[in-house]
Amino acid sequence: MIGRLNHVAIAVPDLAAATATYRDVLGAKVSAPQDLPAHGVTVVFVELPNTKIELLHPLGDKSPIAKFLESNPAGGIHHMSFEVEDIYKARDQLKASGKRVLGDGEPKIGAHGTPVLFLHPKDFAGALVEIEEVARK
Ligand code: CO
Repeated sequence: MIGRLNHVAIAVPDLAAATATYRDVLGAKVSAPQDLPAHGVTVVFVELPNTKIELLHPLGDKSPIAKFLESNPAGGIHHMSFEVEDIYKARDQLKASGKRVLGDGEPKIGAHGTPVLFLHPKDFAGALVEIEEVARK
């Protein structure tokens, strides 16, 4: 069902410092910070040859990652995103396997303009999993 690892998202308390680490120490290509008010985050995309890292920082007072940073003040891996070809098909298959889909179960448009769903960490070895429908040519 799942295809490529699309990205790993890391919640960070200091976006500039984390960006500098990836850019200056690890020598990765990083984007400018992008505010995504609809998602309650500011994101820096770190482009790697085979995948991406997303550095997430809370934006606004209803940020979905604020609580995570409260429990993980130094930051930490927040979720990973796997590509799927058909998000509805993947969702229905997951639900049929007894896996919990978060929210109302309807795909939302994620930070990349593609439909995404999040899956319950307790059903996936303690890791928050995002599935993302990515069109491939
Ligand atoms: Co994501």
